[in-house]
Amino acid sequence: MSKLTFAVLPGDYIGPEVMTETLRVLEHVAQKEGLELDYTIADVGGAGIDNHGKALPDTTLELCRRSDAILFGSVGGPKWENLPPKEQPERAALLPLRKAFNLFANIRPGLLYKDLVDASPLKAERIPEGIDIVCIRELTGGIYFGQPKATTTLDNGEQQAIDTMVYKTSEIERIAEVAAVTAKGRSRRVCSVDKANVLETSVLWRKTVTEYFAKNHPDIELTHMYVDNAAMQLARDPNQFDVLFTENMFGDILSDEMAVICGSLGMMSSASLGTGTNSHGKPFGLYEPAGGTAPDIAGKGVANPCAQILSAAMMLRYSFGLDTLADRIAAAVRTAVESGVRTGDIAFGRPAVSTKEMADAIIAHL
Ligand code: IPM
Ligand code: MG
Repeated sequence: MSKLTFAVLPGDYIGPEVMTETLRVLEHVAQKEGLELDYTIADVGGAGIDNHGKALPDTTLELCRRSDAILFGSVGGPKWENLPPKEQPERAALLPLRKAFNLFANIRPGLLYKDLVDASPLKAERIPEGIDIVCIRELTGGIYFGQPKATTTLDNGEQQAIDTMVYKTSEIERIAEVAAVTAKGRSRRVCSVDKANVLETSVLWRKTVTEYFAKNHPDIELTHMYVDNAAMQLARDPNQFDVLFTENMFGDILSDEMAVICGSLGMMSSASLGTGTNSHGKPFGLYEPAGGTAPDIAGKGVANPCAQILSAAMMLRYSFGLDTLADRIAAAVRTAVESGVRTGDIAFGRPAVSTKEMADAIIAHL
């Protein structure tokens, strides 16, 4: 019996609510497929701060080290908003996890079903078939982590702050490989986004990506676009892209733009893959929904669990090599939504179901 060992970090507000339903979906498929689920639940984010004094408690980090993947919920919210930025749940939990496990490749599908086009702020005629793109974001380099990074006081008494954007060829090549492999499973088109008209790191990025694809993936159509233009094009005609591929901060911004264009945050899943392999010989990864903790609806049992369930499906695909099962879960989510079972965020006048009822419908399609 194949054993899936993973850490479950539900986090805050709706995090635990959608995680409970996601675990139910996983238990269901595991039982049917004869898989053994070996997971341990631990505090992270605000729950980490409240119960252990920090957003990423040592015991939680240790648990992650013993696991083959991390199924992450959502962290943060008003309760911890007045802490210094460095100690806030999002930053103090996610950034150290990315660093600790070299989670260099962030994969965010921008998927909007045809039936949900009304959820998008774009006019329906721009996206008659919905949206189906993927954003690949470099996640452990660039201006997020570059040194020096500091605030100092100058001789005249004024303060000065510095962040450093830095990339090495090897960092660019390994994420280019992820973009290429992703494109091979789709329509073989990659658009690399940079700011090569201004930034040194972008000049190196463009040169490295061009050479890497020419040498290793000549069968993939590679184009380049400046980030300011990419932001416009994404809002104008998102489906002109297939795989959008970019550095850390550009990816942070563009992936949020992509998420809002795709309508409901409650549907957006993501994977962050590491350099290391787990005991299944697959990448260690962290899997999380993109929607956040939604404090306004927390505790009511009405949050949309689809993003968390789709993130779990990504975990099965990338960290456990269970592609067929991942496809089946993704299809069940789609079928449930298309059959009209909707949480409030995607109901559009239909009666809204609860978090649990949404998961029940998905389980029924499995
Ligand atoms: C994201 C988030 C994080 C980031 C924050 C919470 C540190 O916005 O995952 O996109 O900027 O990467
Ligand atoms: Mg972000």
